[in-house]
Amino acid sequence: MKIVKRREDEVVNGEADSFGRDFLGLLVHAYRDLGEKNRLSLEDLVDECKTFYLAGQETVNSLLAWTILLLAIHGHWQEKERREVIQIFGNQNPHVEGIAKLKTRFTEGIARATKYNSAAYFPFGLGPRSCVGMTFATTETKIVLSMILQRYTITLSPAYVHSPMTIITLQPQHGIQITLESLHNDA
Ligand code: HEM
Repeated sequence: MKIVKRREDEVVNGEADSFGRDFLGLLVHAYRDLGEKNRLSLEDLVDECKTFYLAGQETVNSLLAWTILLLAIHGHWQEKERREVIQIFGNQNPHVEGIAKLKTRFTEGIARATKYNSAAYFPFGLGPRSCVGMTFATTETKIVLSMILQRYTITLSPAYVHSPMTIITLQPQHGIQITLESLHNDA
């Protein structure tokens, strides 16, 4: 609520001329500015924030965790991905044009990986209610993985115990223990 209040105060005090063009700004706008009939209640505003926080946090967390595990186990995939990342970004921070070039792929395509069963893989849902955060999630994931691969090699720790567990998303019950080794000698 502090962040919402700050957005409101900035407009009230004349420091800003809108609540902001991001998603929170649109919500605050709907809460404050619309006619009474269309106005979003405070409860709805808070609910929307919670939905986005939960839907955005656990899912990407899980995607990153399992991807790191697979890269740690399959060193040659890790090397291939690192080569691609370095080729596109060098040692710079990831940028928009490069993010668009990075491929997220299955070696022989999704169709082959799912044995041509299109019902076997639709991570972001299908149809009119598919995930609104899909582009955000893939961009965020590409940025995080690129920045890790630019800096570290990843190996799996012998302490890791494979025990996936479903709590809405599929989570590693005991965490994923890895060793990161700096690729540069400046650590
Ligand atoms: C790897 C990451 C993610 C996966 C696999 C994922 C997957 C999904 C799936 C399967 C749905 C249900 C679609 C349906 O109703 O059939 C969904 C809905 C939703 N997702 Fe995601 N999601 C991810 C990341 C995110 C992120 C980062 C955000 C927001 C920042 C987000 C926000 C939402 C919201 C708000 C809905 C409800 C959409 C609606 O019903 O109108 N998701 N997501």
